[in-house]
This record gives sequence, C-alpha cells and structure tokens, in this order.
Amino acid sequence: MSAAAQAGHRAHWSSRWAFVLATAGSAIGLGNIWKFPYMAGENGGGAFVLIYFVCIVLIGLPVMMTEIMLGRRAQRNPVAAMERLAREAAAPRAWKLVGVLGVFTGAVILSFYSVVAGWMLDYLMRAGAGRFHGMGPQEAKAAFGDLLANPYELALWHTVFMFLTMGVVAYGVTRGLERATKIMMPALAAILLVLVGYGLARGDMAGAAAFLFHPDFSRLSPQGVLAAMGQAFFSLSLGMGAVMVYGSYLQRHISIARVSVYVAAADTAFALLAGLAVFSIVFAHGMGPAAGPGLVMQTLPIAFGAMPGGTALGALFFLLVVFAAWTSAISIAEPGIAWMVENLRLKRGRACAAFGVVVWLVGVAALLSFNVWEGFRIFGRSVFDALDYLASNILLPLGGLAIVIFGAWVMRQTHAREELDLDEGWFKAWRLAARYLAPVAIALVFLNLIGLLPGA
Ligand code: TRP
Repeated sequence: MSAAAQAGHRAHWSSRWAFVLATAGSAIGLGNIWKFPYMAGENGGGAFVLIYFVCIVLIGLPVMMTEIMLGRRAQRNPVAAMERLAREAAAPRAWKLVGVLGVFTGAVILSFYSVVAGWMLDYLMRAGAGRFHGMGPQEAKAAFGDLLANPYELALWHTVFMFLTMGVVAYGVTRGLERATKIMMPALAAILLVLVGYGLARGDMAGAAAFLFHPDFSRLSPQGVLAAMGQAFFSLSLGMGAVMVYGSYLQRHISIARVSVYVAAADTAFALLAGLAVFSIVFAHGMGPAAGPGLVMQTLPIAFGAMPGGTALGALFFLLVVFAAWTSAISIAEPGIAWMVENLRLKRGRACAAFGVVVWLVGVAALLSFNVWEGFRIFGRSVFDALDYLASNILLPLGGLAIVIFGAWVMRQTHAREELDLDEGWFKAWRLAARYLAPVAIALVFLNLIGLLPGA
C-alpha cells in the first residue's frame, strides 16, 4: 500500500459528471440489455414493468442515495466504511459484516456475469464475420444453442472477459475508466436508438409497446413481483457496496440526490429502450416473448442480418454491450478489491489475481451447467440459474435492507442530513422511504419468498 493511501488520500472523481457517468456505467450493463427484456418477457410484460418502475422510484432511489451517502461519509471500502460508521453511531462493530456480505455477493454476481459477457464477445466476433447475414429465427435459435453446448468456446470468452475486467481494476478505477465511460455510454445510447428506429420501421413496435406498457396483472405471479424488485436492485447496482465504494470516491460538495436521480433515470431509459427494440423484433417474427436468457441472442442477430450495414452495426452493437458489461463488472469487483487493498494490505495487482481466480472458477461451474453438467440441480436450478437467483433475489435485497436500515435508523440523523443536504421536505421524503417504505417492501418480498404470504 502506498504512503498516500495509508494517509487516507484516496482517489476522487474529477467532477460530478465523472461520478454520474461511472455510476451510470456501473448501472447500465447486461442487466438492462440482456436481463430486463427476458425477465419482462417471462413475467408477462406490462405489469412486471410497472412494478419494476415503482420499485426503482420508491425503493431503488432511496436505497441508492443511502448507499452513496454511507460511502461518501466514510471515505473507505464498504467493509471499513460500515465499521467506521458503526463506531461513529456507537453501534455494534458487526455492521461491517454488511461489507463482507457485499464482497461475497460481488464474487457470486461476477461469476455468472462474466459468462454472459463472454456470449457477447462471441457474438461480437460472429457479427464482425458477417455470420448474421440473412439469418432467420430458427437459425438464430440454433446458433445460440450451439454456443451453449460448447464448453470450450464459453470458457474461452469467459476467460477473456475476466482478464479484461481484472486488468482494468488492477490499474485503479479512476484512471482510464473515467475516460472510457465518457465515450462509451453516449455511443451505446446512439446504437440503441438506431435499433429502436429499426424496430419502428420494420418491427412490430406497436405490439412491443403494448406488451411492455399495458399492465395485465393476471399475468404477474408473486414470484414475478419478487423478480421485479430483485431486478431493480440488480439494475441499479444496489445492495452490495458497489455504489457505496463509488460514493467513497465522491467529493463532498456534490448533491447525492441529484446524481442518484440522473443515474436511475438513465438506467431505466436504457432498459425500456432495449425492451422496445427486442420485442419489436420478437413479435415481428412471430416469436414468443418467454424465451428466457437467450432472448436477446436469438432476436437481435435477425435484425442485424436483415438491415443494410447490419454487419458493421451488429459488430458495433455487441462491442458496446461488451463495454457496458465491462464498466459494470469493474464496479462489481471494486468493493472486494478495495477491501483487500485497504484492509488486508495486499498489492492491488495481487488482490485482482486472487479475486479473479476464485470468480473464474465459479464461472466455469456456471458455464458447464449449460452442457456437461446439465442435469445437475441445486434446489431445482442449474448452477448458472442458482447463482443468479441467490444474488438477485436473496443477497442483494438482504444487503440493501441492511444498508437502508443502517442509514435511516442507526446513523445519527444529523449526519444523514449533513450528507444529503436536502430541503426539509425532500429530506423527510427520503427518510420516510428509507425508514419504512423500503424496509417493509423488502421484508414483504422475503416473507413471500419463504412462502409465508398467501398466494406464494
Ligand atoms: N447493474 C449492472 C447491470 O445492470 C450490474 C451490476 C454492476 C451490479 N454492479 C453491480 C449488480 C452491483 C448488482 C450489484 O448489468
């Protein structure tokens, strides 16, 4: 550890926009482009989207503000941050376990996230080689099936993505990453708009909009509600200290509420646009919306294969998806790495190597569950699905619950007031949401999960 780090001179973002872009880079990722469309598809569309939106505004936003607030106040990695803030509040030191849980959750998420990012790398190569040209729905489906059946191909790209991710993290987040997100995020938005334009011109955009924006609650199960909340947490990168560690690099004078609103708005817009693009293609080709995790891989190649310039555009799209996944993956690893560097006094490179190897191994188990270990089930789920379920539906809500309870109930309210620096009315609104609304909603979802609510 350097002398500067020992003395507590930590790196900081260069401006408010650098923080917003980096945090939006964390939030906008596979969760928006890959996961949101297929989850909305599996859970009946409009009603799921509505619940998701309500979760973002009423639970996600207050939790995000709380998480940034804790990080900025402590100026430490999540483990040390929770320990320091607990001491400040004269609360038990055990609160630091929230940070430990976050590090563990990060390893779980990154393992399967990297496998999916690997699919995107694979599709980037295929797109660039012109292999989408003239592709129909059957071929698109078969091509994705072939990829999943091939453990070597999956492992190759999973490995490449892990090297990319840990490589950047090893150099530190603020150097390079800041600049990369400034170019990548607007470019991704532009490409997404092109795809939405294609959906308008050639796809069934009316069908897509009706599917996503017309709520039919008879098609939403209690499990779907749970999934919507889990997805809101996942998409905003909440509940594991990723946003907390980014907040710890945030300068004092910046309004936490304002940056949180920007990030949540950008994240939601990306998810909805991706959903519109995907479903307009799905419905135009008479495909079903409930294809599951393969949905994007089986639909977008058809559009790219049919449009003029589709080879270049398709390659560009998957390149940008890789970048979106990359800027997210970095934030998933960062709490663990910052903890290993600051608390365990490991060199940053060594910390990245150790974390990377563990995550890589779990990821290999996840990718083998698509082929060699297909029959192996954990509580009725494949390894890949079990990791996703554990992280999204259990660990992230649990972490989010602890974070919001700490910020709203345990921390001194004069301190919260000081950090958030809001008008009295907005402070009260935050407090209401963080004290009651978010914890009660998360608790209800848990009760439902373990089967204690009727209808579960
Ligand atoms: N939000 C990212 C996405 O939508 C994934 C992600 C990044 C994440 N950091 C996180 C998820 C922290 C949970 C916690 O793809």
